Amino acid sequence: MARPATIHVCSACGHVEAKWHGQCPGCGEWNTLTEERAPARVTGAAAGSRAARAAAPRGPGGTPQRLRDVHADRTPRLLTGIGELDRLLGGGIVPGSLVLIGGSPGIGKSTLTTMALGLLQGSGRRTLYVSGEESPAQIRLRAERLEAGSAPGALDVPVLAETDLDAVLATLEAEQPEVCVIDSVQTLAAGDLSGAPGTVGQVREVATRVMEVAKRTGTAVLLVGHVTKDGALAGPRVLEHLVDCVLQFEGERERTYRTLRALKNRFGSTNDVGVFEMRDGGLVEVLDASARFVGEATRAPGSVVLAAMEGSRPLLVEVQALVSPSELVPPRRVVNGIDRNRLALVLAVLARHAGVGTGTADVFVNVVGGVRVDEPGADLAVALAVAGAARGVVLGGEDSPTPVAAFGEIGLTGELRSVAHHDRRREEAEKFGLAQIISPESAPTLREALRAGAVGRRVHAAA
Ligand code: TYD
Ligand code: MG
Repeated sequence: MARPATIHVCSACGHVEAKWHGQCPGCGEWNTLTEERAPARVTGAAAGSRAARAAAPRGPGGTPQRLRDVHADRTPRLLTGIGELDRLLGGGIVPGSLVLIGGSPGIGKSTLTTMALGLLQGSGRRTLYVSGEESPAQIRLRAERLEAGSAPGALDVPVLAETDLDAVLATLEAEQPEVCVIDSVQTLAAGDLSGAPGTVGQVREVATRVMEVAKRTGTAVLLVGHVTKDGALAGPRVLEHLVDCVLQFEGERERTYRTLRALKNRFGSTNDVGVFEMRDGGLVEVLDASARFVGEATRAPGSVVLAAMEGSRPLLVEVQALVSPSELVPPRRVVNGIDRNRLALVLAVLARHAGVGTGTADVFVNVVGGVRVDEPGADLAVALAVAGAARGVVLGGEDSPTPVAAFGEIGLTGELRSVAHHDRRREEAEKFGLAQIISPESAPTLREALRAGAVGRRVHAAA
């Protein structure tokens, strides 16, 4: 009984073994087994048996209750004062909840969480910032910038630089903060598990035990998690079902705009986004994102404004394309902010059904500002940008006073398909003075959409 029972779980396929193996007997992958604690009480033959169930303690009374009679605490939420964050969380942080904030390194996770704690501390809440990544001195330097900028109170936040899970939990029990940040979940480790910090077993153990304490003490925990290149939260999404909310930071560290997206929310709607800008004194909410992006849009061949939906909100973003003769076979297809496969489809339909071939050209497509648009409604804008770039023609014509706005899905036969919220997209484009809007409602096929945008073949036969 020296050590608690552990099992070895494959991080690729979930296969479980009692002993460690170099190669997973389940899927054949190498070095994927990591040690984790055996699930408590579900040991041996007793698990799930009738005897076990009969022996299990019954709840007080054991009688079902009508929902109407169930007592539900309506504890007020903790408002961080960062409007976009509070909104994404569904109206502030729910006491005792567990929120996972994911994003690639350098995107602003520590900045956002430090700001949130600073503002909460400044408004009289008890907070705690646990860092396994940085020293208190490093954290202070960031806090100084934030204190001077958008989060007065940042220097009053108590910090604990610690990587040992037990020490962190003991501090949580002792201090009982109302809100705690753990930066990051991948740097803490339970001493009684052999796996290195950041392995599936460790990450799951850390999150589970933090949650246990958080629920008991009513502490809300913001767990920071690094994501891998392809966007998965490290530790194959093991945390996503465990936590109450998952917020994901997107964008690129070299750019100023970042979007924060709610991927999961037990207390609010999902698929909502907030747009932030990284400034000298921290992250600043961009409330007029559409106006910014339209204002910065160029009027050159290959540019179009996409009327996108980001969750429940319309957002205007500029899509740019560059088409240039290639020496490579196959030629380059480079995308930023849209899905590569979606570009492949758009190019195929452009060539086959609209007479715009790009087979021997490099094609680059970029959503300006580092915004990601993951929706089929982006197809038409991408197609128009590529067609304009390929033909060297300004969409809507050289003389049109405003950029052209577009949205719509492209079908495989060259037809345009309606997308959700077309009225709200149109309203947003009109609100920002975009006179010409091309959509499935105005053009039934891609060919006609190109003609409407003055990039169709007939208009520019001479080009
Ligand atoms: P950080 O929050 O440390 O990223 P993460 O925790 O996700 O790895 O911040 C990343 C970048 O933000 C860093 O390059 C410095 C920059 N930054 C600012 O531009 N202004 C600021 O006020 C702060 C605190 C950081
Ligand atoms: Mg960080």
